[in-house]
Amino acid sequence: MYVKLLCFLFILRYSNSARILTLNGDWILQDDKHNITNIKAKVPGGVYSDLMNSGIIGDIFYGYNDINTKWVPRLNWTYYRNFLITDTFLNYDNINIVFEGLDTFSYIFINDKLVGSSDNMFVQYIFDIKKYIKTGRNKIEVRFLSPIEIAAKLSAIQTKNYTVPPTCPPTEYNGECHVNMIRKMQASFAWDWGPSFPSVGIWKNVYIESYNESIIRYIVSDVTEEDEDHWKVNLDIYLANNIKNSVKGRIQFKFYLNFINITSILDVDTKGDKNNEIVVKTNIEIRKNYVNTWWPNGYGPSDLYSLKVVYMSEDNSEKSIRHILVGFRTIELIQTPLDSGLTFYFKVNRIPIFMKGTNEIPIDILPERGQNKTKIKNLLKAAKDSHMNMIRVWGGGVYESDYFYDLADEYGILIWQDFMFACAMYPVTDSYLQSVISEVRHQVRRIYGHTSVALFSGNNENEGALIQNWYNTFAKYKTYYNDYIKLYVKTIKTEYLQLTNNRGIFITSSPTNGEESDKEGYVAKNPGDSLYGDVHFYNYVLDPFNSNYYPVPRFASEYGYQSLPSKQSFLTVTKNVSDLNINSIFMNHRQHHLIGNLELQLLIKFYFQLPNETSKNYDEAFIYYSQIVQALAVKIETEHYRRYKSFVNDKGEGYTSGVLYWQLNDVWVAPSWSGIDHLGKWKMLQYYTQEFFAPVIITGHINLQRTLEIYLVSDLLSPLFNLTVSVEVYRWNSFKPVYAEKILIKELEASVLVESIETDDYLTRIGCGYLPKAKQNCFFYLSVEKNGVKVTPDNFVFPAAIKDSNLTGAEVKISSVKNIDSDESIFDVELTSDNIAIFVWLESNAVEGRFSENGFILNEPSRNVYFFASQKTTKEVLMKTLTVTHLLDGKFF
Ligand SMILES: *[C@@H]1O[C@H](CO)[C@@H](O)[C@H](O)[C@H]1NC(C)=O
Ligand SMILES: *[C@@H]1O[C@H](CO)[C@@H](O)[C@H](O)[C@H]1NC(C)=O
Ligand SMILES: *[C@@H]1O[C@H](CO)[C@@H](O)[C@H](O)[C@H]1NC(C)=O
Ligand SMILES: *[C@@H]1O[C@H](CO)[C@@H](O)[C@H](O)[C@H]1NC(C)=O
Ligand SMILES: *[C@@H]1O[C@H](CO)[C@@H](O)[C@H](O)[C@H]1NC(C)=O
Ligand SMILES: *[C@@H]1O[C@H](CO)[C@@H](O)[C@H](O)[C@H]1NC(C)=O
Ligand SMILES: *[C@@H]1O[C@H](CO)[C@@H](O)[C@H](O)[C@H]1NC(C)=O
Ligand SMILES: *[C@@H]1O[C@H](CO)[C@@H](O)[C@H](O)[C@H]1NC(C)=O
Ligand SMILES: *[C@@H]1O[C@H](CO)[C@@H](O)[C@H](O)[C@H]1NC(C)=O
Repeated sequence: MYVKLLCFLFILRYSNSARILTLNGDWILQDDKHNITNIKAKVPGGVYSDLMNSGIIGDIFYGYNDINTKWVPRLNWTYYRNFLITDTFLNYDNINIVFEGLDTFSYIFINDKLVGSSDNMFVQYIFDIKKYIKTGRNKIEVRFLSPIEIAAKLSAIQTKNYTVPPTCPPTEYNGECHVNMIRKMQASFAWDWGPSFPSVGIWKNVYIESYNESIIRYIVSDVTEEDEDHWKVNLDIYLANNIKNSVKGRIQFKFYLNFINITSILDVDTKGDKNNEIVVKTNIEIRKNYVNTWWPNGYGPSDLYSLKVVYMSEDNSEKSIRHILVGFRTIELIQTPLDSGLTFYFKVNRIPIFMKGTNEIPIDILPERGQNKTKIKNLLKAAKDSHMNMIRVWGGGVYESDYFYDLADEYGILIWQDFMFACAMYPVTDSYLQSVISEVRHQVRRIYGHTSVALFSGNNENEGALIQNWYNTFAKYKTYYNDYIKLYVKTIKTEYLQLTNNRGIFITSSPTNGEESDKEGYVAKNPGDSLYGDVHFYNYVLDPFNSNYYPVPRFASEYGYQSLPSKQSFLTVTKNVSDLNINSIFMNHRQHHLIGNLELQLLIKFYFQLPNETSKNYDEAFIYYSQIVQALAVKIETEHYRRYKSFVNDKGEGYTSGVLYWQLNDVWVAPSWSGIDHLGKWKMLQYYTQEFFAPVIITGHINLQRTLEIYLVSDLLSPLFNLTVSVEVYRWNSFKPVYAEKILIKELEASVLVESIETDDYLTRIGCGYLPKAKQNCFFYLSVEKNGVKVTPDNFVFPAAIKDSNLTGAEVKISSVKNIDSDESIFDVELTSDNIAIFVWLESNAVEGRFSENGFILNEPSRNVYFFASQKTTKEVLMKTLTVTHLLDGKFF
């Protein structure tokens, strides 16, 4: 094999090429017991979607339908259809059927002959069917076995040797058992934020391919820096093998760059290897000045360049064409010694970049619906608009769709990709490991080449689970430890490094101590150590509004609080208004987190006085308060981590380099940690995210000595000069501040302490009343300007719990709504108020859309907010449906 680089345009002329026959579309579905016979089905799809579409089951997201449909995954289901094959199609040496995704256990029959089987929903299955198909009509059948039944069987076999826990999820999940025994979306058997819908089906494309020589299966691009002036695009091209001959052909590359197109040709002359696949490794050097560097969101454009790759057979009779997009960047994970511990931060293009983002759970609990481009785009666009530059694809879900990673590339959102193992011990039988190897090979080849993909992690929380004995494994620690190493280190890590030519960034678990965990045999004594790696932090007992209780990690990869989705969202899953009560049977059914609803009440009570339970709008008030608590707590926690970006405390903790809160999205309408609910509606948290993730923030927190410390934090790559910080103090009953001071900051880089204020003395001195009441009468309002233009979102600090504060109430009204664009989708909403109002919350009710800001502090008599409608509407319709509320709104009391 050798490489020739030619810089002229190559003209392609072909007569024939490989043929593809899609089998997507209409199929027929029935179960083995003939309970459901011959209903219309769709591929790609799944059994729940088909049963819903044919009216056999209701909307699975409604009411108690997760319980009512528990019979569905207990049956064996068969999908079948006929298809036509022509003579010309048969006139090829290689004829395969390709299933991009089978969920999960199935046997595939063509014309009643078994052609293959599947046991892993994350594997792409390719079966040789040349000898099974014929000219004319053919029949295909895919017989799925109940995943619940198989999981139980596998567990029974495993248990004869030793158990691999956990066996079943907590009872409040209403879930199914032994999901860790099977390679299926782990959350499909239920999670603490989601229902159990263990689907079966052909969830991705299926097609028949035929060729004589070869076709391109994957192109994995990996950009490195060759020297100061050149990028190097390392390409691994995976070709399908030819069962008859060795492959003799050519690969042509055409790169479309800024002002030049580069063409090159590579001769391929190799025999197929034992994996029935040929990998061609090559690289293309690109002068740096031909392209723009790719930057994460917030740091510059995320330009991508199209690379067309064509495989041609020796006699030019066949071609296989693929396009990929390549971004030019480097990513490193830096772990170097500090006085205590190791750093843990990402460099992009050799520059340390602070990571801001969230954790993604599956786009949809039904994997076929997780391919919905509108839904994916809405979520990733929200992430981009909220200044996020990293999303973690969490290990209990699925490797997301190509479109998901394409958009992440385009939006500059880096991806922290978990392998799909979460919160469990896993088996290591030979057949299990073989299946995992196929999964790793397929998914790494499919995903790793995306510009956005920053690193892979072996699993979610299993290092911690093992060393902290979550599943009572201590008695046989050595066995489970050896299994852990066998799976994540010897199998997954080894495969991954080989597939990425040793360039891929890998951590074995999350949270982990990174290199320190590796040193301790891949399982550290305390994987949540704040001096190393990443940390997951949850606590529902301590005051969530007191930042002094939060840890100071190197990287916060999970943390968060629950809230309830809106009333309108709830009313899509129940018609019974009393179900909205936090103590209702329905609400307890939807709350999978043990005592979660009680915790929500306690968290609210740290800071707020809920209205009397007998008050008429109590349930609505509770929803609203729950969203305030979530938004405020995650804001306080995130700002705390951001403050630590450029220094350490006396324990050596700090240099925090990333914040990924839990969680971006939802898979049903239920209490959860999400910022965006199941219907795509933004909770208050998502609006707050837009502000606390801004590139530059002003933030204040009161430390244990009651000193208010005001910080400016900047993620910009160059310093800002001559900023004016305004510290205003308002009494609760007036728009006129009782005191205001301005502080000039000559130069801002990273995180700087602007001022320290002895809170209580200061408030007394400036006229908020006498101790100890002063802190209850006033609050701080912070803003920053440069040459008269605001450079940060405004911020606020409450010196006392709101329930102890002397709020006087306000009347907030929507005074006008004006359409401001020709598409009739953007509206200017004017609010007026007669007093300070906090957590001012607008609802668009019947009209879908989102506001430019929401849940804000109103410290002026009027405020204009934009509303972006999802669809065209009119100001009359909006005027009728818009509502506004705030903390002391009379309707709650
Ligand atoms: C058969 O289907 C019906 C719905 O049509 C369902 O209620 C019932 O539980 C199913 N029976 C079995 C044995 O799965
Ligand atoms: C599903 O098929 C398997 C294998 O044929 C069989 O053992 C099992 O009893 C079937 N289960 C149901 C619910 O039909
Ligand atoms: C493929 O190869 C076979 C011989 O193995 C030949 O008969 C056939 O014409 C070839 N097909 C094409 C499209 O070249
Ligand atoms: C039982 O487990 C041990 C320890 O992992 C393993 O070596 C052995 O192969 C297992 N035996 C069977 C029958 O699976
Ligand atoms: C590069 O290729 C594209 C698409 O074929 C073409 O539109 C463009 O003019 C080419 N650019 C140069 C500089 O040749
Ligand atoms: C895709 O998602 C959008 C937004 O959630 C929804 O409106 C639409 O109905 C979905 N499309 C399909 C085919 O399910
Ligand atoms: C709640 O309201 C009811 C009826 O107005 C009243 O009897 C009760 O005392 C109130 N409870 C509290 C805690 O204020
Ligand atoms: C900042 O302000 C000072 C005083 O007005 C001025 O001398 C200096 O040039 C300013 N710096 C920048 C970078 O604008
Ligand atoms: C509460 O605020 C009002 C003014 O709105 C003031 O008259 C009153 O003294 C304050 N209460 C306390 C306890 O300071």
